[in-house]
Formats: sequence, structure tokens, C-alpha cells
Amino acid sequence: MSRYEEFDKYEKLIKERLSKKRFNHSMNVAEACYSLAERYGADKKRCYLAGLLHDVMKEELPEKQKQMTVESGMLPDTAEVESPPLWHAVAGAVYVRDKLDIADEEILAAIRFHTIGCAKMTLLEKIVYLGDMISEDRDYKDVDKFRKFCYDDINVAMSVALIYNIESVCKKCGKLPHYSFEAYNYYLQYNKEKESL
Ligand SMILES: [Fe+2]
Ligand SMILES: [Fe+2]
Repeated sequence: MSRYEEFDKYEKLIKERLSKKRFNHSMNVAEACYSLAERYGADKKRCYLAGLLHDVMKEELPEKQKQMTVESGMLPDTAEVESPPLWHAVAGAVYVRDKLDIADEEILAAIRFHTIGCAKMTLLEKIVYLGDMISEDRDYKDVDKFRKFCYDDINVAMSVALIYNIESVCKKCGKLPHYSFEAYNYYLQYNKEKESL
């Protein structure tokens, strides 16, 4: 059950659109976002909603996802247009904007950048990026260590997360969107400056 009655329709929608596993993942990400929002004093309800919907297009036909990405008007990088696993993020933001009529720019950006990150993310955007990586269903090595980072300092966690994600793209010889290395440089610098204060 969704935490908010008014979001039951969205829960129903993702249940219809996604496999059981992915539906559970989405519910868990919503919960992780809620909890991070609580920790950092963000808007719990909007964080929860963005988490709930972040993978709404994940199981859409690939060609449809690609078409939505290309036609999104959301400035997809060439690396994004060429990488099928990245399409669902842009396509998801388009779907939420156009089909669900959600005009909340922060929620749309959080969904649009949840796979690749970008520089200067808002608190809500960072929460969705990290919530997706620490949801209860995640079981990669060191996930518990990373969960702790997320609750200790959200900007340090962003740096750690970007290194982890960029590294996994490089290991597979995948192309990196410029948004990801801009994000990496930004959070590196941000944390360095904070350290020297
Ligand atoms: Fe995703
Ligand atoms: Fe996800």
C-alpha cells in the first residue's frame, strides 16, 4: 500500500506496467526516498512520489523508449541516445509530464537524471538518485556501507555513488554522457571545498 491514498492510482499504474520484481523495487525506492527525505528535511511526499514513478517506463518497448528520449526536448546526450539502459529515465520523465500531467519540475528532473546524475542536483533529485541505489531490494557488495554514507552526508554519498556508477559503465566499455562527468567533477569539487572550510 502506498503511504499516501492519493498516490494509490500511481501504485496501481506501476503495478500494471511493471513486473512484480520491478514493482517491488519501485515501492522500495519510494520508501528509501521517504526515509532520506526525513533525514535531510526534504519534502517527504514529493520524494516518495518521484521514487514511486522513477522506473515507470523501464519495461516499455525499447523502440518506444528511444523515440520518447529523442523527442523529449530534454537535451539527451548522444551517449544517452545510444545506450538502451538509459532511455527509461528520459522516457519516464516524458511519460510523467505528458500522460500523468505532473508539472513538478523537480520530480521530472529527478526521474530524468536518476540513472546518470548531473551537476547541481537539488536535494530531491539527489534523494531519488541515491534512493534508487539503496532500496531494500539492492544487494550488491558494500550496499550497507553505502547506505550509511547516504545517511551521513548526502554530498559525499553523491561522489561515492558517481564513482561507483561511472566505474561500472567504464568496465563495460559503455559511453558516458557528459552529464555524468559534470556531476562527478561538481561533487568532487563541492566536497573538497567543504573539507577546506
Ligand atoms: Fe531506473
Ligand atoms: Fe530503479
